[in-house]
Amino acid sequence: MSGVRKTIAVLPGDGIGPEVTHAAVQILEDCAKSFEHKFEFRELAFGGAAIEKFGSPLPAETLAGCRSADAILLGAIGGPQWDGLALDKRPEAGLLGLRKALGLYINLRPIRLRPALSGISPLRRERIDDCDFEIVRELAGDIYFGEHSQTGEGSNARARDVAEYSAAEIERVARYAFERAAGRNRRVASVDKANVLATSALWRQTVTRIARDYPEVTLEHLYVDNAAMQLLLRPAQFDVILTGNLFGDILSDEAAALSGSIGLIPSLSRGGDGQPALYEPIHGSAPSLAGKDVACPLGAIFSAVLLLRESFGLRLKRSGLKRQWIACWITDSAPLISRRPAGACCAALNSQSTFARNCTTRWFIRSVTAGEFKGSLTFCAAPGSWQSCRVALASFP
Ligand code: IPM
Ligand code: MG
Repeated sequence: MSGVRKTIAVLPGDGIGPEVTHAAVQILEDCAKSFEHKFEFRELAFGGAAIEKFGSPLPAETLAGCRSADAILLGAIGGPQWDGLALDKRPEAGLLGLRKALGLYINLRPIRLRPALSGISPLRRERIDDCDFEIVRELAGDIYFGEHSQTGEGSNARARDVAEYSAAEIERVARYAFERAAGRNRRVASVDKANVLATSALWRQTVTRIARDYPEVTLEHLYVDNAAMQLLLRPAQFDVILTGNLFGDILSDEAAALSGSIGLIPSLSRGGDGQPALYEPIHGSAPSLAGKDVACPLGAIFSAVLLLRESFGLRLKRSGLKRQWIACWITDSAPLISRRPAGACCAALNSQSTFARNCTTRWFIRSVTAGEFKGSLTFCAAPGSWQSCRVALASFP
């Protein structure tokens, strides 16, 4: 089999971004080696790190490097040291600028609740069973990209953020959501606040109109407040959730929490066909965890998996062969993530563990593929958001 030859722009960013990106790049390197692909990684400064080095969160060279790559892998951006900067100078402005410049108007966030992880979900098992849905968030419009201003001082100060949508912006993302749903369980839940907002009223009219082109897909509309509640009450009812930029930002964090941790969820941001897409875990830069080797890299690794699948069309096979274990893992397939068998040994992946000391996913995979691990592994014991996060990876008989 001859492999593919691709360039990947890597934007490690800030906080835990560089660590989790490093883990994901190692997975991609292993994948390239095992399946004879050639991936060229181009590391580029972005976010706070780029502010420090070049005085801008999105230097021209970074933008050019992203434009010319086949795909982009991003870690995370932001940190308290840049909180005092004006909105348009902060690391987040770099991310918004990149989304705008590359025309990334679709953001896909797959939410899968793995049975093995039901223990870390805040919901009872019977509520999260069979939960597997996708959030399609519009990413290039809405209140994010309208004018932002603040005038006056003290109690005379006023601020304004303009929310705007055109029908064309809604149509293109709606089509993507209907197409995703057509390939899944054929249900779209469109989320808006059409009882209050003009942008949402247009959203609802437009989505209803587009739905006529997809008669095989059932459409329902939910107000965002109700959607937030339904996600907690009956998350398994959803197949594809379609929503605007701001609501999508909020609901996707809520949905991610159902899976046990926001650190497990990847995302894809894309524009039209043929443009480079951007992949990133949806978690933030978690400054309090940075540099301690305790951040779980799975969100970034699953983002790399999405990249292989969506941008390079690689669907790696599973088979009984040992080296195929790697493929199993990178394709995020269920067999490797199952219930911890009774009596299995358990390695804590914290800063004291061999995993952290060796600190490479490559080492982890080698150990697993060499059969050294006969049990489940646990990511835990880290301060901060990972405290209670246990990721059980299955045993290898
Ligand atoms: C996300 C993030 C970003 C957003 C921030 C970092 C600008 O929260 O991708 O969800 O609000 O879109
Ligand atoms: Mg967010």
